Amino acid sequence: MKLIIDTAEGKLIQEIEGCQRILGLYSKEAFELISQQWIKVGWNQKYAYTFTWMGRPVIQLPEDMVRIQEVIHRVKPDVIIETGIAHGGSLVFYASLCKAMGKGRVIGIDIEIRPHNRQAIEAHELHSLITLVEGSSTAAEVVSRIKSLVKPREVVTVILDSAHSKQHVLAELEAYHDLVTSGSYIVAADGIMGDLNDVPAGKSEWTWDNPAAAAAEFAQKHSEFVLEDPAWPFNESELTENVTYWPKGWLRRK
Ligand SMILES: C[S@@+](CC[C@H](N)C(=O)[O-])C[C@H]1O[C@@H](n2cnc3c(N)ncnc32)[C@H](O)[C@@H]1O
Repeated sequence: MKLIIDTAEGKLIQEIEGCQRILGLYSKEAFELISQQWIKVGWNQKYAYTFTWMGRPVIQLPEDMVRIQEVIHRVKPDVIIETGIAHGGSLVFYASLCKAMGKGRVIGIDIEIRPHNRQAIEAHELHSLITLVEGSSTAAEVVSRIKSLVKPREVVTVILDSAHSKQHVLAELEAYHDLVTSGSYIVAADGIMGDLNDVPAGKSEWTWDNPAAAAAEFAQKHSEFVLEDPAWPFNESELTENVTYWPKGWLRRK
């Protein structure tokens, strides 16, 4: 595909296999096409590796953080479980929402919590709301430890952001889905990998080996879940699509 941004004429020209489509540069369709490309360029430039939340690096697209904030504020989970801690910024982000809402705590799992990251998270002002568990998210002892930390009838939301192979995410979905309460979500982050096969730092196998493929396969087997993006609670635009690294990853428990 070729995209030509013509700011002089106020047009976006999309060319696919010789066929041209001319769109108004300031239209909904142009915004969607430019956003899809912006996502890919930004991913290659490690745009998501440029943010912190309350002092800790958070490796996310800010758009995804705002969208999940909308979900957390609506669902008001007692427990937010996240696989993949890295520097702890996303755990701190979820903990800051819990603190502001006066409800909820956060459990993070990582195969390797580096000493400097552990120290910084343990020294953080929101640490009392965060439990760290070290080990592979799919290891039986880790899964049972996490389950032991959740009390019966607690509302639970799960974010899967550790290893992003289809096989690993599918194993995580199978391991943690039964903790997710009705109306809440388990989300497979970084399904965007499926669109990054033509990006310099991407890989061709990501076309099929990605978290969105795991979520789709899981949804087919688990009719108690529906694969759908959470509705936007506020929208005074004509836009409908998320600008996201987490496409086709949101599974809501019916
Ligand atoms: C993308 S980073 C997480 C980013 C973090 N959620 C944030 O928003 O800042 C992925 C993390 O997953 C961890 N990881 C990789 N394989 C894992 C596994 N099998 N189980 C648990 N964590 C794993 C890595 O050590 C790494 O810290």
